[in-house]
This record gives sequence, C-alpha cells and structure tokens, in this order.
Amino acid sequence: MKIFNDITALRKNLSNERTIAFVPTMGNLHVGHLALIKQAKRLADCVVVSIFVNRLQFLPHEDFNRYPRTFDEDCRLLSELNVNTVFAPDEKILFPTKQEFLLALPSVADILEGEFRPGFFRGVATIVLKLFNIIQPHYAVFGKKDYQQLHIVREMVRQLNLPVEPIAGETVRAPDGLALSSRNQYLNQVQRIEACHLYQTLVEIKEKIISGDKDFLTLQANATKMLTERGWKVDYIQIQKRSSLMPAHIDDQDLVILGAAWLDKTRLIDALEIQN
Ligand code: PAF
Repeated sequence: MKIFNDITALRKNLSNERTIAFVPTMGNLHVGHLALIKQAKRLADCVVVSIFVNRLQFLPHEDFNRYPRTFDEDCRLLSELNVNTVFAPDEKILFPTKQEFLLALPSVADILEGEFRPGFFRGVATIVLKLFNIIQPHYAVFGKKDYQQLHIVREMVRQLNLPVEPIAGETVRAPDGLALSSRNQYLNQVQRIEACHLYQTLVEIKEKIISGDKDFLTLQANATKMLTERGWKVDYIQIQKRSSLMPAHIDDQDLVILGAAWLDKTRLIDALEIQN
C-alpha cells in the first residue's frame, strides 16, 4: 500500500492504472467505510482512499478541531484490506493558498442539512471536485447515510459533466440499528443506548407509509414530538422524494425519510429509503 501526501507523486503513480475506484473519507475509519472500500474493490483494479479532514465543510462552531484523527490505525485497516493507494495530504497541499474558488450549489443544498449547516455542501462539493480532479477516478463510492451528500455529488457530476460514476454504498448499522458514524464515539453510554431511536423512528414512519398512511406532515410532526419527548433536539425529520430530495407529495412513489437530531452535544443523521 502506497501512502501519498504529494499530488505530483500520486498522479505519477496512478497514471498507469486501467480503472480507479475512489473512496473519499475524513479518516477515523469504521466498518461503514470498510464496506465502501470493499465495494470499490469490486469495481476497479486500483482503489484509492483519501483521508482529509476538510475544514471547508465545518462551520466555525463545529467539531473541526475535535474531529477524531486516527491516521495510523486507519492505515492499518486499509493495508489489511489491500487498498492500493492512500492519499492523505496536509492542508497546505490541498490549500496552498486560501481556497477562493468555491462552487455555487443548487437550491437542494439549502434544505435539510443545508438549512442547519449553511455552507456545508459547498465545502463538501468543492473538496470532492478537487479530489476528483487530482485522482481522476472512474468510480467514486459514497455512503447512503449521508444521503443528501450523495445526491449533491451525483448532481454535480451530471451538471458539470465530470468523467466519474458516483456509486452508492448501503448504510452499515450496529445491531440495534444505529448507523455507523465517526461521531458516534462522542456519545456516552446512556446516549449510545438512546441513539438507536433516531433509526427506530425512521423505521416506524416507513412502516406507516407502507401500510397506507400518506399524511406526511403529521407523520413528521409526530416523529419529531416523540423524539423531543425522549430528550432529543430534532433538526428535521422529513419525508422527501428520492429523485429530487424535495418534500414528497401524496402520489410520489420514490421516497426517502431523512432525519437529523441532537443528543446533547452530538448531532446524528440518518436516512431510510422506501423501496417500492
Ligand atoms: O462524507 C465524508 O466523509 C466527507 O463529507 C467527504 C465526502 C470525505 C468530503 O470531505
């Protein structure tokens, strides 16, 4: 496994690869990331994993400084998976000067996560575009837990004609249903037990919709009330149309339920598709 900090050396190393599948990460790898990497290995000869905690996607009061950085352990896991190449640049490599060119995003970036984390998707899209330009992968794998991120990356690829195919990876869950996330480690024992109720709430909404309840606004409001009564601070519980991520209408068939809520100082997000 080769580890690169430098762009020129990375590019030289990748220049002879026939097919490249890319998994962008912020490190602190868990089983969810490893599943995306295994999926990438089935897609291409060469798998590149990036590890970079991207300052552009954190608001000033967010957890950029305390975001867990576990580089040595990450590399151990990646070499066990026989990943070919790791790109782990210093900030000075990706931002030798202030990043002044930033993408302007469509309005879908202003709802859901975008409403509560303004500028977040602009930071994500900008770094993902830079990484795509540097690595020039044929495939790039993104997890469905960050459902809106996946949607926005797909739109960016489509609208900017980027020569890469985004691939969706299924969410990996703990036995109680909690979606794996690096931020789960901020939870104390009591919060960790409570945390599965975000997913449970999405499952209950899904079951009600499948059994014919199409009063989406009431379903959202009841779920929010229920979580609030359990001590959560809910940012949103929304039933959206999968293809546009806009609020679902009664006749829509392709649905996804998205949720974001706080347990004290830890913000968790999740998403659940309704298959039909
Ligand atoms: O999903 C993430 O970990 C990040 O948003 C990503 C895609 C690596 C960009 O920094």
